[in-house]
Amino acid sequence: MKSEENRVFIFDTTLRDGEQSPGFSMNSDEKLRFARQLEKLGVDIIEAGFPVASEGDFASVQRIAGEIKKSQVAALARTSLGDIDRAWDAVRDAVFPRIHTFISTSDIHIKHMLKMTREQVLKEAHTAVKYACSLTGNVEFSAQDATRTDRKYLCEVVETVIDAGATTVNIPDTVGYAMPDEFGELIAYLFDNVGNIKKAVISVHSHDDLGVAVATSISGLKAGARQVECTINGIGERAGNASLEEVVMALETRRDILGLYTNIKTKQIYHSSRLLSDITGVQVQPNKAIVGANAFAHESGIHQAGLIRDKMTYEIMTPEAVGVPDTNIVLGKHSGRNAIREHLKKMGFDLARKEVDIVFKRFKELADIKKEMFDEDIEAIIAEDIFRKPDKYKLLYLNVVSGNAAIPTATVQMEINGEVMQEAYFGVGPVDATFATIRKITDTNHRLVKYLVHAVTEGTDAQGVVTVQLRHKKRIISGRGSDPDVLVASAKAYINALNRIESFQYVTMQNGKSLRRYKYVNDHYRENPGCSCRA
Ligand code: KIV
Ligand code: ZN
Repeated sequence: MKSEENRVFIFDTTLRDGEQSPGFSMNSDEKLRFARQLEKLGVDIIEAGFPVASEGDFASVQRIAGEIKKSQVAALARTSLGDIDRAWDAVRDAVFPRIHTFISTSDIHIKHMLKMTREQVLKEAHTAVKYACSLTGNVEFSAQDATRTDRKYLCEVVETVIDAGATTVNIPDTVGYAMPDEFGELIAYLFDNVGNIKKAVISVHSHDDLGVAVATSISGLKAGARQVECTINGIGERAGNASLEEVVMALETRRDILGLYTNIKTKQIYHSSRLLSDITGVQVQPNKAIVGANAFAHESGIHQAGLIRDKMTYEIMTPEAVGVPDTNIVLGKHSGRNAIREHLKKMGFDLARKEVDIVFKRFKELADIKKEMFDEDIEAIIAEDIFRKPDKYKLLYLNVVSGNAAIPTATVQMEINGEVMQEAYFGVGPVDATFATIRKITDTNHRLVKYLVHAVTEGTDAQGVVTVQLRHKKRIISGRGSDPDVLVASAKAYINALNRIESFQYVTMQNGKSLRRYKYVNDHYRENPGCSCRA
């Protein structure tokens, strides 16, 4: 039976904990696009970012807060009042804003990272929550590194922040250290030992360093937690966070023993996962639970024979339940515009008329070269031709000479800020020559961190999708390109990464300024505790 008591709130932190891990950086447009999909998926809370981290983060959170109507929009803040102000400024226009403030509570963090005492941390947590509650009635507090925190002290912290007005208290396994049973016991201990615990929703947030984040989260929910923090595809710091699709489908599939439910529209899961991969250029491994390419593939004859008789012989949930399309073979070169528009809708893309026209035109061009067109081809077209912003750099022409009797040489023509430029250069192989020439024309020199090629479908006529990761200061920025010619796809991917770096550059320039200002604000409040000015 579904009742408020057994409802689990889904707090998605793909855009915050997920985005802060290397290779997953997204620009503001990409974050907004993904937030819209999270809303469609039915997540209860979208953690949109950490506004004090940079002007770019602030602006993205603000845009998401202004647009998302159904989900709550949360912004992360440390406990300094300047951070909280910044978070509030970013989310205040949301229909359902939330401030999420955190501080570490384990001795190891308190001593070595914060250089504070337990008493100071307790006071700081209380002041921060009280202050956040003066801005909104929806305040979450996280006790960072809770699983390595002294239990009695953790109880004291939880009790204090609930007294100060926190409506949600999160118990993170920040370093992915807890075993599932142990974590469930910790949550049960809090329920037994914190007097006012019923006044707040208890939340769990697990990292996957030991590969048990989903199990740990579920164990916490069994013990009484009713919010779970997770990410699409399990992306996040280091080994990642608990994966949303795995937690949700475990609750759904084993409701018989867990008795818990969420409001997630499970049919949107597959599209959400694909969209994230398209935006970041990072694919999930084929054997990934729920959303991997093999998650519903049955190779063995025995399994296939069983499935023909009854699907439940080897399938504990259906691919349709998570929105995996029936068959991947779609339309051919004779398909009309309406058929394509309908198919796009089935795939989860609500495109404007003009955008459908663009996809249709590109589809026809590609269908002339390829024998069969697949969903993946359409996704590649959408990623490249619809959601790509007007770019600084554009590829106009590529010619590569290569072979075992030639020095690989690339000739590249590009448009840069409207000006046509051309160069030729050589390299150790055709890809190296292409990238070297692009570097020469654009006068850039970012370190290439990763170069990955995969065919989106089967056959030698398949489109190649190339992912390139470049280092830009402390960030790793991904670029993606697709084309039936792998070298053209490689050039497009490299240029896409350069364009994405451009979209972060503006943010970094502003960043220098804002960090200085906020450092001052934090120092001010630290030196004048309790000061009521809003510097
Ligand atoms: O892992 C963690 O502790 C966090 C907190 C900021 C909630 O991400
Ligand atoms: Zn985390």
